[in-house]
Amino acid sequence: MTVPMPSPAVSPQDDLAPVTLYALDRQRARIEATLRAGMDRVLDHGQFVLGPEVAALEAELADYCGVPHAIGVSSGRDALIMALMALGVGPGDAVFVPAFTFSATAGSVASVGAVPVFVDVDAATFNMDPAALETAIANIRSEGRLQPKAVMPVDLYGLPADYEEIGAIAAREGLHIIADAAQSLGGAAPAGPVGSLAPISAVSFYPTKPLGAYGDGGAVLTNDDALAETVREIRSHGRSGAGDEALRLGMTGRLDTIQAAVLLAKFEVFADEMVRRQQIAEHYTAGLADVVSTPDIAAGYRSAWALYTVRVPDRDRVRKGLSDAGIQTGLFYPTPLHRHGAFQPWVSPDDSHPVAEQLSRDVLSLPIYPDLTDREADRVIAALRAVI
Ligand SMILES: Cc1ncc(COP(=O)(O)O)c(C=O)c1O
Repeated sequence: MTVPMPSPAVSPQDDLAPVTLYALDRQRARIEATLRAGMDRVLDHGQFVLGPEVAALEAELADYCGVPHAIGVSSGRDALIMALMALGVGPGDAVFVPAFTFSATAGSVASVGAVPVFVDVDAATFNMDPAALETAIANIRSEGRLQPKAVMPVDLYGLPADYEEIGAIAAREGLHIIADAAQSLGGAAPAGPVGSLAPISAVSFYPTKPLGAYGDGGAVLTNDDALAETVREIRSHGRSGAGDEALRLGMTGRLDTIQAAVLLAKFEVFADEMVRRQQIAEHYTAGLADVVSTPDIAAGYRSAWALYTVRVPDRDRVRKGLSDAGIQTGLFYPTPLHRHGAFQPWVSPDDSHPVAEQLSRDVLSLPIYPDLTDREADRVIAALRAVI
């Protein structure tokens, strides 16, 4: 395998230019000819909705993830909503979500009329803590108000959640599992690649994701034929095939053909980009593990490195210091979900998720993308060491 992103020759300018959190323009420059050819083909054939590029991308995604079905949809959030709808999750149901994630995880649950129940996360992996999940299920059962229906683990920053442990709990409790794999396409666990780790998974193609479109997009992955057919109907107004009748409630939830063309071009280099992300992550860990808390990836797991996130004391001072040194960083996420205004109707005053609270104060995400140069990664390391 070739990794076509060598560190370019360094000019004195490089040490003055800011290191940005993302640099999509560099990837575009690298693959511009393929991107433009793909978009031109769509303009020529004119099938802007469910054109041949959508089916081609779905086939490649399914193959890459080792599942029989990939369904291209309008966004990661819509992928979650369609998975919930396909499983019949609705009013009166409880869906267990991590307290530390992007708001769309819980938002998708509330959108189908179900209740998001927040579960604390593990301090080492940042992912849903299986012990906290068991406690949350027991609490909901003893309250007796809601029916525990599903669990939605998130693969935060690209690292798969503990589907083995969570799967065992879900099987005991009779819960569906919907993987929020919005950030983790390209990651893997001992059991297999992301997309195959739960009965149904949702990924996002938001532009800054490891596989990003030039607009919104997402996919649902599943090994279940009936679920796949249901999601295909839901993404197209609840109709089946070319039929006119709405057989079930649906939405306008298809991936645009032009975005599929963009994604096909990017997918050609995706495996190499994953190798490069991994190299940068290893470089960061080697250069930083003695001064900050670096990501903890268990044996047999692979992160997609959507984000490389460290934990630092006095985070806002450190962030300012890095910014002064020309290093842009990200905060994912400064507010745990049980503190978001939108979710207050479902939060009780005694809801406490101390790990999520602490992480929201400590986390800091560093630039990681395939076209980040070795020199830039070294500058990030040197600046962070100096500030600490
Ligand atoms: C964990 C998580 N879930 C869901 C989503 C929603 O994806 P999208 O922006 O494609 O709707 C995101 C996107 O940022 C995410 O990070």
